[in-house]
Amino acid sequence: MPKPKVLVTKRFFPEPIAVLAEHAEVDYEATDEGLTPAALVARAQGKRAMITQVTDQLGRDVLSQFTGLGVIAHFGVGYDNIDLHAATEHGIMVTNTPGVLDDTTADLAFALMLAAARRITEAHNFIQRGDWKRWTLDLMMGRDVHHRTLGILGMGRIGQALARRARGFSMRILYHNRTRLPLEMESALEAEWVSKERLLRESDFVSIHLPLTAETRHSMGESELRMMKPDAVLVNTARGLVVDEEALVRALKEKWIAGAGLDVFEREPRLHPGLLECPNAVLTPHVGSSTVDTRMKMAMMTVDNAVAALRGQRPPNLLNASVWDRWASRPASAG
Ligand code: DGY
Repeated sequence: MPKPKVLVTKRFFPEPIAVLAEHAEVDYEATDEGLTPAALVARAQGKRAMITQVTDQLGRDVLSQFTGLGVIAHFGVGYDNIDLHAATEHGIMVTNTPGVLDDTTADLAFALMLAAARRITEAHNFIQRGDWKRWTLDLMMGRDVHHRTLGILGMGRIGQALARRARGFSMRILYHNRTRLPLEMESALEAEWVSKERLLRESDFVSIHLPLTAETRHSMGESELRMMKPDAVLVNTARGLVVDEEALVRALKEKWIAGAGLDVFEREPRLHPGLLECPNAVLTPHVGSSTVDTRMKMAMMTVDNAVAALRGQRPPNLLNASVWDRWASRPASAG
């Protein structure tokens, strides 16, 4: 029997590609640029599976042109680049890579908190410019992180991993989430559920761990930023579009807040020019899960999801179970 065909939309790691090639004929786009939507549609013809990344835009218009595609195995936990409703309507399973990147992403969120509070990049640049002439008592004075209040917006797995780290720094932990955690989880994390407004008003650090949806888009805008304390720091390792970047630049420049640690941006890889003018913004290029171990685990998980679907099994990290249910309950004669 010929092997099913799989499209890999941009450069991937060789080891998981080799695993994939044991089960499928792989059409591999080995560039970092990846494919335009038109090229993606053309290359998807005749494919049963597709391995995608965060830069692939799979809206309804693109998905409706795929014929015969059974599964989109997405590399990453966030899948806002894929219209899940449209995929479901078109009978395409979609999978992601939850769990394996929680600690790694929480590490980066904590690193950004520390870097912004202790002005680490500012201090590094100061030395590199040759500006350090003498030690003075108030050189690069920052703010304490320990014993301060951390507000976590979105208390999913990554938010919880951040809370565990914050306990080690004796921080008070507030959180806001649509659904409140069970009491035993709250007490294990020593985290208190509060309204979003109270969280913004009382926190010294606000860290965003929300998925990007129609409800969360620009949910951190001017009025929310103005509620924060003037010495507070905003951290975002989730999705850039959750924050209104224009308002954030004004907040940083006009000192409504003290600083920001940002790994994600509204129009990646383009940055709001104002952000580059803010010494109180620590910026990293969407690398929340980017460690050698974690990225490899994510890649292997992505391939495992695709291979399961190709073998007629339910992929372990299926996001739209109804597609599988429809497929699994179809009459045997349907093929
Ligand atoms: C994720 O896992 O969602 C990261 O942002 C990479 O796509």
